[in-house]
Amino acid sequence: MSEYDLTSKIAPHLDRHLVFPLLEFLQERHLYADEEILKAKIELLNETNMVDYAMDMHKNLYRSDDVPQEMIDRRVEVVARLKSLEESAAPLVSFLQNPALLQELRPDKQYNLQMLNDRFQIGPDQIEALYQYAKFQFECGNYSAAADFLYQYRALCTNSDRSLSALWGKLAAEILMQSWEIALEELNRLKEIIDSKNFASPLNQLQNRIWLMHWSLFIFFNHENGRNGIIDLFFQDRYLNAIQTNAHHLLRYVATAVIVNKRKRHMLKELIKVIQQEQYTYKDPITEFLECLYINYDFEGAQQKLRECEDVILNDPFLGKQVQEANFVTVPLRDEFLENARLFIFETYCRIHQCIDIRMLAEKLNMSDDEAERWIVNLVRNAKLDAKIDSKSGTVVMSTNHVNVYEQIIENTKQLSMRTYMLAKNVLEAAPGAPATR
Ligand SMILES: *[C@@H]1O[C@H](CO)[C@@H](O)[C@H](O)[C@H]1NC(C)=O
Ligand SMILES: *[C@@H]1O[C@H](CO)[C@@H](O)[C@H](O)[C@H]1NC(C)=O
Repeated sequence: MSEYDLTSKIAPHLDRHLVFPLLEFLQERHLYADEEILKAKIELLNETNMVDYAMDMHKNLYRSDDVPQEMIDRRVEVVARLKSLEESAAPLVSFLQNPALLQELRPDKQYNLQMLNDRFQIGPDQIEALYQYAKFQFECGNYSAAADFLYQYRALCTNSDRSLSALWGKLAAEILMQSWEIALEELNRLKEIIDSKNFASPLNQLQNRIWLMHWSLFIFFNHENGRNGIIDLFFQDRYLNAIQTNAHHLLRYVATAVIVNKRKRHMLKELIKVIQQEQYTYKDPITEFLECLYINYDFEGAQQKLRECEDVILNDPFLGKQVQEANFVTVPLRDEFLENARLFIFETYCRIHQCIDIRMLAEKLNMSDDEAERWIVNLVRNAKLDAKIDSKSGTVVMSTNHVNVYEQIIENTKQLSMRTYMLAKNVLEAAPGAPATR
């Protein structure tokens, strides 16, 4: 199953600290040898300031109380550096921690900077020290302190690059504290900056969008409105473009979000189009399930992929979150996915066949006849399908006057291959030494 694990594709787009929860998840799922994960964790921690944690892990891995000398040296270094940064930032930090003095601040950055300089001798150096201190605290794993300091730093910072890194840091800290509401606010703030006209170069903008989407996975698969949020963001032209340019693996999350979100069903067509365009660059059982069903009309294949989808979801750090219910553990997203995917199969099947034998369908859906009939009755009622169930003959009869999705998709596909053809033609014609592309 590790063949479908995306961690190594996702990690390069994340802050190191954000990779940690992914490794924790993989460790719980036993997708890799425990030792391998522990080594990866130690490697990750060695790049941060979480030296004590790294030491504990080292002891755990090698079942010994000894740790390498360099870890001990590193610890001394980190403690000294923290102390020194704390001292440099102290004038501004003590100002910011004094409620009476905070009253002196106004919603006017220039005024505040002048006032701090004139009355408290707090200038650019002290403000820079606050940033360095915040960053160091973050590296130490003190995310709440980092979030507070970065927030305050941004209110005083006049350098837009610095302000942007502070915002990324704040977002990471909020994600790591699982403050989904605030994290979502910071995400939107960041998006606005990245999408603004005067934001760096187009390449830089593309890279920032790709980062943003990766970081957003934490939020969207935890925040209560995340399933709408992810679709609203990832389907925006510039973001979808970024996925198709350099982050194809994100298709798994878009596809899952569309499958489980009944309210965003209208995005299915667009999604299928993208999956079809990208079928040679990215696939996993989830995209293949949709491909089987909506591109190839291969119901057997869809069934088979559905079984693999379940494993993919259970082993994906963003999708496989377990929830403790009274006395058992469930994976809510898996359950919803399977329910909706079966619905997709049923609907597509019904739209291609006018009359369906319930027994045959039960077999396709791997349910007993009774189970299937009950399920279909509910479905027809809830999904507003124009269908009648004839219990005597054991059939479902579809009304003929509804829009035929099958035909719609065929039409769609025709247009698409035409467009692809035109595109290929244009590219080929433009290719030999075309000056426009230099
Ligand atoms: C985090 O930093 C704050 C501010 O420096 C400090 O008061 C707090 O003790 C730190 N927390 C931890 C767990 O180190
Ligand atoms: C049908 O579902 C059962 C569990 O409900 C499972 O054990 C079995 O493998 C499934 N069979 C097929 C053909 O999918």
